[in-house]
Amino acid sequence: MGMTFGLGIIGCGGIGNVHAQAARRASVKIVGAWDILPARAELLIQEHGSREGLGSKAAPSIDALLAMKGVDAVVVAVPNDRHCECACAALKAGKHVLLEKPMALSTAQCDEIIAAASASAGRLQIGFVCRGSPAALTVKQWIDAGRFGEIYHIKASLYRRRGIPGLGGWFTNKKHSGGGPLIDLGVHVIDLALHLAGHPKVERVSGATWSKFGHPIGEYRYTSMWAGPPKIDGIFDVEDGATALIRCAGGLTIEVNVTWAANIPEGSIKDGISIWGSHAGTHFDIFGKDVAIATEEQGMLVDIKPQFDATNPMDQAWDQQYRHFQAMVMQGKTPFATGAQGRSLQAVIDAVYESSNLNREVEIG
Ligand SMILES: NC(=O)c1ccc[n+]([C@@H]2O[C@H](COP(=O)([O-])OP(=O)(O)OC[C@H]3O[C@@H](n4cnc5c(N)ncnc54)[C@H](O)[C@@H]3O)[C@@H](O)[C@H]2O)c1
Repeated sequence: MGMTFGLGIIGCGGIGNVHAQAARRASVKIVGAWDILPARAELLIQEHGSREGLGSKAAPSIDALLAMKGVDAVVVAVPNDRHCECACAALKAGKHVLLEKPMALSTAQCDEIIAAASASAGRLQIGFVCRGSPAALTVKQWIDAGRFGEIYHIKASLYRRRGIPGLGGWFTNKKHSGGGPLIDLGVHVIDLALHLAGHPKVERVSGATWSKFGHPIGEYRYTSMWAGPPKIDGIFDVEDGATALIRCAGGLTIEVNVTWAANIPEGSIKDGISIWGSHAGTHFDIFGKDVAIATEEQGMLVDIKPQFDATNPMDQAWDQQYRHFQAMVMQGKTPFATGAQGRSLQAVIDAVYESSNLNREVEIG
C-alpha cells in the first residue's frame, strides 16, 4: 500500500463529491467509483480520479468496483436505506469502509454491519465528521483536561428555516431515509454531545416530532435545497422538526432540537452545542471560528477564547476525519467513530421516534 491507499467511492451525489475532495487533500488515491446513475460516477472520476498507474475508472457495478485492483477501502455515500447492503458487501470483500451517517435504518441493520466488520480484514469508521471541527476539538481538549468539571447538561441543536433536502426525493421518503431531520441532522449533534460527554449510557428518552412544511410540495418556498429541487410528485412522509430530552446514566441530560424548516426569526436563536459543566460552560457553533468558555478565574466569572486555527473549519473537520481514516486503514488504529457508537446512537434515534409515537418517555434496554 505504500504511504497511501486506493479508494473507491460508492454513491457519487452531493456528499460523495465532498469525500472525493477530502480524499484528494489527504493524498488518498481515488481509483474507482460506482453510482446507479453511471454519469455521476463518470463525472466524479473525470474530476477527481487518480491519473497514476492503471488510472481510475467508473465501475459498471458495485461488485466490479470491489473487484478492481488497487481498491483498498471504500466510502459509502448512498441513501440511508442502502448503507447496510453496500457496507456489508464491501466488508465481505475485505475492504475498509468509511460509512456515512446515519449508520443505517435500524439497530438490526447496525448489528449486521458490525458482524460483517468483525468477520472481515476490513475495518469500519462511521462518518461523524462534526467531531473533527476545530471548535469541537478545542472543547474536547478542555473536557479531557478536566476543566469543565462535571458536565450535567448539553443542548444540541441545528436549525434550518427552509432547508428540507431534496423535497419529494429520497431524503423525505421514510422508506429510503428512515426519517427527517432527527436521523439526518440529529445524528450529528447527538453524536457530538455523547462524544464530548465521553459516551455515557443513554437510559431514557422523551421526544416529539412534527411535519408542518412542504404539504403540498409545490407550495413550499425554500431558501436552500441540498440534493436537488423539489419533486412535485414525490413523497414527503417524514418529520421536518424534532425535539428530545435524553437522560443518561449519572444524570447528564441532553436536550435536542433540530429543524429542516421552522418559522424562526433570522439570527434570533443560535444553534450548535451548549455544554454546562460545574467548572466551565460553553456554547459553540460546530463549524464556528471561535469558542467562548465561561469559567471562574481568581474569583471572577470570565469568558475565555482559546486560540485555534480558524481557517475553513469545515475543511479542517473533513481533513481530521480523513487523518483518522488513513490511520485506521494503514496502521490499524481505532476509527474516529466506531460501529458500536453508531449502533448506540441508532438506538437513541429509534427511541425518540418511538417516544414521539407513544406520546411518552421510553427506556432504552
Ligand atoms: N456527513 C455529512 O455531513 C453528510 C451530508 C450530506 C449527506 N450525508 C449522507 O450521505 C449519504 C448520501 O447523501 P447525499 O446528500 O450525497 O445524497 P445524494 O442524493 O446527493 O447522493 C446519493 C447518490 O447515491 C446514488 N445511489 C442511490 N442508490 C445507490 C446504490 N444502491 N448504489 C450506488 N449508488 C446509489 C444516487 O444516484 C446519488 O448519486 C446519506 O446517507 C446522507 O445521510 C452526510
